[in-house]
Amino acid sequence: MAGSERPIVIVGASLGGAKAAEALRGAGYRGGIVLIGEEHERPYERPPLSKGYLLGKEAREKIHVHPPQWYAEHDVTLRLGTPVVAIDPAARTVTLADDGEIGYHKLLLTTGSVPRRLPVPGADQDGVLYLRRVEDSDRIKAVLRPGARIAVVGAGWIGLEVAAAARAAGAEVTVLESLELPLLRVLGREVAQVFADLHRDHGVDLRFGVQVAELTGADGTVNGVRLGDGTELAADAVVVGIGISPATALAEAAGLEVDNGIKTDQHLRTSDPDVYAAGDVANAYHPLFDRHLRVEHWANALNQPQTAARALLGQPDAVYDRVPYFFSDQYDVGLEYVGYVEPDGYDRVVFRGDPATREFIAFWLSGGRVLAGMNVNVWDVTDPIRELVRSGRTVDVDRLADPNVPLTEI
Ligand SMILES: Cc1cc2nc3c(=O)[nH]c(=O)nc-3n(C[C@H](O)[C@H](O)[C@H](O)COP(=O)(O)OP(=O)(O)OC[C@H]3O[C@@H](n4cnc5c(N)ncnc54)[C@H](O)[C@@H]3O)c2cc1C
Ligand SMILES: NC(=O)c1ccc[n+]([C@@H]2O[C@H](COP(=O)([O-])OP(=O)(O)OC[C@H]3O[C@@H](n4cnc5c(N)ncnc54)[C@H](O)[C@@H]3O)[C@@H](O)[C@H]2O)c1
Repeated sequence: MAGSERPIVIVGASLGGAKAAEALRGAGYRGGIVLIGEEHERPYERPPLSKGYLLGKEAREKIHVHPPQWYAEHDVTLRLGTPVVAIDPAARTVTLADDGEIGYHKLLLTTGSVPRRLPVPGADQDGVLYLRRVEDSDRIKAVLRPGARIAVVGAGWIGLEVAAAARAAGAEVTVLESLELPLLRVLGREVAQVFADLHRDHGVDLRFGVQVAELTGADGTVNGVRLGDGTELAADAVVVGIGISPATALAEAAGLEVDNGIKTDQHLRTSDPDVYAAGDVANAYHPLFDRHLRVEHWANALNQPQTAARALLGQPDAVYDRVPYFFSDQYDVGLEYVGYVEPDGYDRVVFRGDPATREFIAFWLSGGRVLAGMNVNVWDVTDPIRELVRSGRTVDVDRLADPNVPLTEI
């Protein structure tokens, strides 16, 4: 293989990057692999940071993708605490923050995403907390004490999972969301209402359709929130979860095609044939949906690297066409979601089971076809739901809603 004396370089040492290194070795690649990450912690998974780890139920040693010795055992050079500051696609090199340079044979970008910052006065004070890294989770854990007043800005996945953890810790929680319901753009009105009820029943003060105008404070530390209508709320800490932006700066500066993430084809190859992208940062062409999709979930960062690794080793059948999947846990509610629906991209929601019992499956349909399904406190149904989505066939809605009809017989 021409140029194979140069390593394959992976930028971004988190779930996506670590899984890519594993997949390259799994595919029999024996050349050099350099995995570079700006964080100091070896690759770890983020879901526990808003759930078991934040609740103090899951130990730090449990969050990592691989045990410490795995990297040496698999001859993967792990460079932690090392931001990559530039890519030169013509010379096929990456530049490190310390001015060092590493040549690559193929490059994989798994740079993930970064939290959006709240653009209001007072947002840079102490006690204004975001959640992306393990040290962020530690900071939030430290403020979740009985009776502490926690304001959460954003009722998305971060906001709701943190609200649940805060209530479990005995804190008083107010959630401030600019839309009319939580998770509205992902779940739509019908199912979003279930999550509003869930959090209200657990004592969360939910405020919808509100604007955060300012974070108030004293001596550089936040002490409250002022809303657009003048309402003031006292807060001992403010947790902000208002979405993420894909970490595309490196790719953009290198002249790669970037549009809501790094654009790739179905092989996860970017506009430069020697550069691939996977995970949160990749806006990848999806053959099943015939469009580009950027998926901000764990399973995508787990599975896309398999395809990227095989593709960059020259296997032409390496195509990423998995149906998107994610999960969440809040209080005693666990859920899995499989499929993809644009906001307002469905014409009907069908429930199998009563959503008020919080034990049900919801299906989003368009033109009689199932676009996505979400099982809530119902288990072992993801495979048949995925099959319904993948098949694209029209279904009998009465049978879909009937819990006595097996999902494999819809
Ligand atoms: C608190 C939390 C809870 C979550 N819970 C769930 C869940 O329950 N279910 C679910 O499906 N999904 C969940 N997710 C989403 C899931 O964790 C992400 O989709 C996943 O982490 C994406 O992995 P990634 O490897 O693509 O990117 P990331 O995890 O963002 O990792 C990218 C890495 O690249 C590094 N990097 C970026 N730029 C550079 C550079 N220039 N040089 C060197 N290194 C760089 C970053 O520092 C980072 O370590 C959660 C996310 C968070 C934050
Ligand atoms: N279970 C899971 O799958 C899970 C759990 C945690 C995090 N994550 C991932 O982490 C990332 C970040 O999660 P997130 O919850 O921050 O993003 P999100 O996109 O899920 O939700 C952001 C929420 O903030 C609201 N919002 C935006 N601007 C606002 C403002 N100025 N004031 C009030 N509300 C505002 C939005 O309407 C939305 O409801 C996402 O990629 C998410 O998929 C996933």
